[in-house]
Parts: sequence; structure tokens; C-alpha cells
Amino acid sequence: MQIPGNPSTLPTFPEGFLWGAATAAYQVEGAFEADGRGPSIWDTFSHTPGKVVQGHTGDVACDHYHRWREDLALMRELGLTAYRFSIAWPRIIPGGTGTVNRAGLDWYSRFVDALLEAGIEPVATLYHWDLPQALSERGGWLSRDVTSWFAEYAAATVGALGDRVARWTTLNEPWCSALLGYGQGVHAPGHRDPVEALIAAHHLMLAHGTAVPVIREHCPGAQVSITLNPTQVWGPPNPSEADLDAVRRIDNIHNGLFFSPIFHGTYPEGLLADTAHLTDHSWIHDGDLHAMSAPLDFLGINNYFPTRVRAAMPDEPGPEMALPGCERVIEVPPQPPLTDMGWEVSPVGHRDILVRAARESGLPIYVTENGSAWPGDYVDAEGRVRDPERTAYLLGHLHAAREAIDAGADIRGYFAWSLLDNFEWAWGYTKRFGIVHVDYDTQVRTVKDSGRTYAQVIAAHRASASE
Ligand code: FCB
Repeated sequence: MQIPGNPSTLPTFPEGFLWGAATAAYQVEGAFEADGRGPSIWDTFSHTPGKVVQGHTGDVACDHYHRWREDLALMRELGLTAYRFSIAWPRIIPGGTGTVNRAGLDWYSRFVDALLEAGIEPVATLYHWDLPQALSERGGWLSRDVTSWFAEYAAATVGALGDRVARWTTLNEPWCSALLGYGQGVHAPGHRDPVEALIAAHHLMLAHGTAVPVIREHCPGAQVSITLNPTQVWGPPNPSEADLDAVRRIDNIHNGLFFSPIFHGTYPEGLLADTAHLTDHSWIHDGDLHAMSAPLDFLGINNYFPTRVRAAMPDEPGPEMALPGCERVIEVPPQPPLTDMGWEVSPVGHRDILVRAARESGLPIYVTENGSAWPGDYVDAEGRVRDPERTAYLLGHLHAAREAIDAGADIRGYFAWSLLDNFEWAWGYTKRFGIVHVDYDTQVRTVKDSGRTYAQVIAAHRASASE
């Protein structure tokens, strides 16, 4: 696929297409103790030595909590028609359950009003990984009770904002919460247990499904969704039977684990058998799959890179921290070009996973995150941040989204990750994904060249739509 260098070669997108950018509460807000916010598992994790690169935390982040007016002005400057943000559960219910913190709700309420006034549609995510610490101490995502805790939080939040916010997302990337947070230990709460990963995934989906009717009750006419992060899985050329089986297993644990229960009301074929040596699955109760598959209005897809795997050779050790059921699967090094995260750049993979997500879900799709980190962003003497790789990535993936539309996927919007450079989880501030540069010493924001290009793309699209 050709990667264009200039926005004038971009294809057109359907009318009403949303042009957005995305952030998440813990990554940008800072103000970790302001106005009654309680601690979350990410506060605890980032303050634990050795968990985040260079000991970085989200205490201050981009200080968006205080600088939101300036950030809103940037969104206007870019011409965004939508903004995807997440709400911090520990600001709304600091203890996880019980008392609702009015000041926390008021902050989001003011912010939403200002977005609407600017003509920017708010797209709100209820959970982007910042579980109240108090709930983690009661079992977190390993406890079935999390479904009622989440429903309580959803009711309070949607009840307060649902008169103005119509588009709701329950969870952001439950794969990461479960597999990285409980399985591999690289995200909060930092557990390393493959069975816990499966249990957490199950409870995440159950909490999602339970919250769907709660959101509808508090926001009649709501557009309700979940955001998943499927990945295109590729085996080696001329794969053996074992390689094909490795692809199947990884596809199940990355993609099927969520697609099948949520869209088909069942676990994907093989996944329970592939993990039967680890667990008896007694944590799956009657009725769970029905609850998880509550009908949705759209599906959010976050996608950055494809995954390459092969089978382990008979005498070769498996990976040290295998994904459940994938004890004999080896991840193959990605093929260049690679981003600063070491992620393979593949517009083709992006197109194909969008087409698959549309087919599996039967729903309209929004690309709720896509973007790239590159080394060496800095503000030069002319006040510019020259980031040609990020621009090429952006345009290449927009092309891919258009190709997915041509192949039948009903794609209705694109949200660049991210509006701002921000706290990149275990990588702290060392990876920059923003289309706007943030100087963390001064909090000065500078629109990068990629942001300027994105603004041109949006302006061209809006002009042709109004012709
Ligand atoms: C996604 C997360 C988002 C950000 C990007 C780079 O997995 O949803 O918060 O960290 O990756």
C-alpha cells in the first residue's frame, strides 16, 4: 500500500464522519489529589518503584485538569469535530462505591458544556484503566462484585452527564486491563497469573454488559459501545500445522476472547479447551454470556500494529510469560518500519482488522485510537515540531480506513491518539504519541507538523462536505 506524504491525495470520507482526537484521564489530567479525587490502581502502581520507566507518575501529567481551556482551544484550532476522553472513576466515587463526589462530576460537566459550545462532540469512556484503589483491595476485576460497583459508577456518571453526552463507551481495551494488568504484570495492578487474566477478562465483559442497560436508562437515545484492541495476527510464510495452530491460539486470546462473547454470546471455539490445563472455568456462571452480549450501537476499535507469531520448535522453550493457552507460541520480531514503541507500521493490517471487526460485530465502527510514537520530537528554533514519520503514519492509516470502508466496513469516525503527548503507562513520559507536543517542564503545548496536517485533512473534508 502506498503511504502518501500529503493530505491532498487523501480520499474522501462519508458525510458525518467524525474527526477526533483521544486522551485518557490518568494520562493527561494530573491533579491527582484535587477536589476530592481518590487514589486509583495506577497511582499505586506508578508510585511503586520499578513499575514505570524512570519512576514517572501521573501526578501532574499534562495538568489538563487545570489547563483544559487551553486544550479545548487547541482542539478548535485543529478543527476537531469530536473529542474522546475518559472519566476518572476515582474522581466520581473516590472510594469506588458509596459517596458520589459532586466536585468531580462538576468538573466533567463544565468540560462537556464547553466542548458542546465549541461544536465538538463529546465521546466519553467510563473506564480507561483507573480503577479506584479501594476496589482493588476488595478484589478488583477478580471479584464478581465489580459488576455492581461498575453499574453504580455508570449510573452516577451517566445520570449527571447523559443529558448532554450521547456517545458512551463502557471500557477501553479490556484486553490490556486483563492480560497486561493481571496476566503479565506490566500494567496495574501488576499481577502475573494467567488464570487471573482470564477471570478479569470475564468480569470486565460482565461489567460491560451489565452497564449497557444502566447507561440506556440514564440516557435515553444513548449510543452505547465498547472499545476493543484487536490485532491482525500473521503466521510465517509457508506455515506448518503447528504454526497455524499458534496463529489460531493467539487470535483467540487477542481477538476472539472479546469478539465472541460480546457479539456472539459464546467463548471462541477452542479457547476453553486450550486453557483447560489452567482452570476449570467455574467462574463462568449461567447467564453471564447472555449479559455480556447486550446489544450495542457501535464498536470502537483501537489499533496500532499487527502481531506475528510462529510455533515453538519441539526443543525450544516457550515464552517466559505466556498468554493463557499460548505456552508454545513464539512472538516473531516485527518487520520494519518500527515506531519508538517497537511496533510494526502496517496500514494493511489496520485495514484488515477494521474489516474483520465490522464483519464480526455487524456494527458501525469508530477508530477510537490510532497513532504512533517516534523518537526525537522537539520544538525547533522556528517553533515547529517536525515529525514526518507520524504524519506518514497518520495519512497511511487514514487511507487504510478508507479502504476498509470500500471493502464494506461502516466506519464513521477516526480519533488520533493522542491529542497531547502524555503519560504512556509503563513507559511514563518517554514515549510521545501526541499530535501536539507537551513540554513537561513548562506545560507549553506546540502543535506538531502532524497536527497541522491533520487540521488540513479535516478542513478539506469539511469544505467538501459543505459544497
Ligand atoms: C492504547 C491505550 C492508550 C495509549 C495507546 C498508545 O493501548 O488505550 O491509552 O496508551 O495504547
